[in-house]
Amino acid sequence: MDKLVVEGGHQLKGQVRISGAKNAALPLMAASILADGPWRLTNLPVLGDLLTMGRLLTFMGGRVELGQKDPRQNPNEAELDLTMLSKPEAPHELVKTMRASALVLGPLLARLGRAKVSLPGGCAIGVRPIDLHIKALRAMGAIFDLSGGDIVGRVPEGGLKGAEIRFETVTVTGTENLMMAATLARGRTILANAAREPEVVDTGQALLAMGAQIEGLGTDTIIIDGVSSLKGGSYQVTPDRIEAGTLLAAVALAGGEITLVDFPHEALGTVVAKLRETGLILTALGSDMLAQAPDSLSAADITTQPHPGFPTDMQAQFMAMMTAAKGVSVITETIFENRFMHVGELRRLGADITLEGRTAVVRGASCLSGAPLTASDLRASASLVLASLAARGVSQIHRVYHLDRGYERLDRKLISLGAVISRVPA
Ligand code: EPZ
Repeated sequence: MDKLVVEGGHQLKGQVRISGAKNAALPLMAASILADGPWRLTNLPVLGDLLTMGRLLTFMGGRVELGQKDPRQNPNEAELDLTMLSKPEAPHELVKTMRASALVLGPLLARLGRAKVSLPGGCAIGVRPIDLHIKALRAMGAIFDLSGGDIVGRVPEGGLKGAEIRFETVTVTGTENLMMAATLARGRTILANAAREPEVVDTGQALLAMGAQIEGLGTDTIIIDGVSSLKGGSYQVTPDRIEAGTLLAAVALAGGEITLVDFPHEALGTVVAKLRETGLILTALGSDMLAQAPDSLSAADITTQPHPGFPTDMQAQFMAMMTAAKGVSVITETIFENRFMHVGELRRLGADITLEGRTAVVRGASCLSGAPLTASDLRASASLVLASLAARGVSQIHRVYHLDRGYERLDRKLISLGAVISRVPA
């Protein structure tokens, strides 16, 4: 297991390209199950979760050529052919490391009429069941049994049938799972209270490219008319808005001026407005973004919401920024019940944060000083790296595999901008 050693106090300067979105790449890989030919993805990020999804699809009998695994290939491309799919199963040893494995459930039921998926346990940020996925698939005719920790699903003769579904809670992968399932169902499916995240839209656009019939992408009501089959093809993954937001928070904390290439302007609208409120100077330059840090940051409040609200996946990074801002910031997390694992670690750097239920009150401008830190989940680990950039002295961040699951070598990107970071065996 590696650790990162970060020397604070170095400003960032230069330009860096935003990688493809992890949370679009994962459903797009699962969508290969639906295609009756090879499915090619480009602009893929190079990160751990895609290796896990590749292992899962290979386990099922698919041919998966992931560029990041073959030095002769482009690391940001993949070709997946699941036409020889023989084992519609997602075993515990794979699912336990990545709950997004549940994204194969809808496609397997649609394509083969059966699936056996290990129930994702909780994770550091919350229980995160998939009850809403299962309830909606039942409405389409699927029958489920729970046995030995696996959810075993099957579909009566004739396959899934279209249904009117309203999600009690907005669920990103629930919307993606059902959208994929509905593409091959008989008749029309209406998903109400659907997720509007850009990665959901990207998944829908890819399904349209395969020949699916979908309307309402980006709204809270998505309508899918089932077709008899979907074809293979190729699709370019959208840029990662969370990586982009993370890099903006980095320059806000470290100081300096950076240009982000392939910046997802529209997808990050709410975050850009909020970061401007803190004093970060953001100037759109065509498809890029110029970010200039102010001499000091001002506190601002956030409440996380489903898109287009402030994304929960940016909450930890924003909190890191607020530890160095002038004033008091109130941060409310409404999506997950335990997404403050980074608070204890930020306090070790000297941050002044008090927790009241789902709200954190951050009294900023504390002078952070480096310390040994332990990452707990993906975005928490990013927030620790960011805070270390602003801390006086050296910080060490352990369990950096959390970071590598969801970012394409964030440390390398920050080093290319002038950060002083080394990766050493822990
Ligand atoms: C997706 O997770 C993302 N993951 C998460 O990103 C992101 O934080 C989350 O959406 C919210 O935006 C991927 O896209 C792979 P949800 P997902 O279903 O789909 C509850 C990251 O950092 N819920 O939208 O699992 C759930 O517990 C990761 O990249 C149910 O109760 O999240 C949560 O409280 C972390 N029952 C809320 O809904 C269900 O069946 C939203 O969860 C489904 C969800």
